[in-house]
Amino acid sequence: MSLNIRNSRFIELPKIKDGRDGILCVAEQQKNISFDIKRVFYIYDLHDNNAVRGKHAHKNVEQVIFCIKGSLELLLDDGLYKETVKLEKPNVGLYLGTYVWNVMTKFSEDCILLVLASDFYNENEYIRDYNQFLAIALKQSE
Ligand code: TYD
Repeated sequence: MSLNIRNSRFIELPKIKDGRDGILCVAEQQKNISFDIKRVFYIYDLHDNNAVRGKHAHKNVEQVIFCIKGSLELLLDDGLYKETVKLEKPNVGLYLGTYVWNVMTKFSEDCILLVLASDFYNENEYIRDYNQFLAIALKQSE
């Protein structure tokens, strides 16, 4: 399960099963999460299968996105390559580093996303204009 997109990879958390009901997964900073976690946010109550979220890249913030219930698709684009991935396993997250354009679609109705982020929210570190993203991303890969 490797990706061709730069600064992106899947992260598989071990499933802890101890004979009782349920599966326990643990994400720890500087262990299976490669950065210090400064912010956690989650998205739920998705009803429109055609909804589109994301459509941006980050200049500084790194994230790991878990779909802890249901499923969604993410289009990843590093300026050179595009790849669509599906998140549907609660123990498998997507590490998304800087300068990767992502578009989230095809949310299942029960979808719940849990995102771990390396820094506080700061609108100034978002790139929300695709052409601006492309110009920077292509320059970086020269
Ligand atoms: P956005 O990051 O565009 O959401 P998505 O990537 O899911 O499409 O954020 C949507 C709105 O929420 C925007 O007005 C900024 C706000 N927001 C915060 O205030 N703090 C946060 O940590 C995040 C992620 C978003």
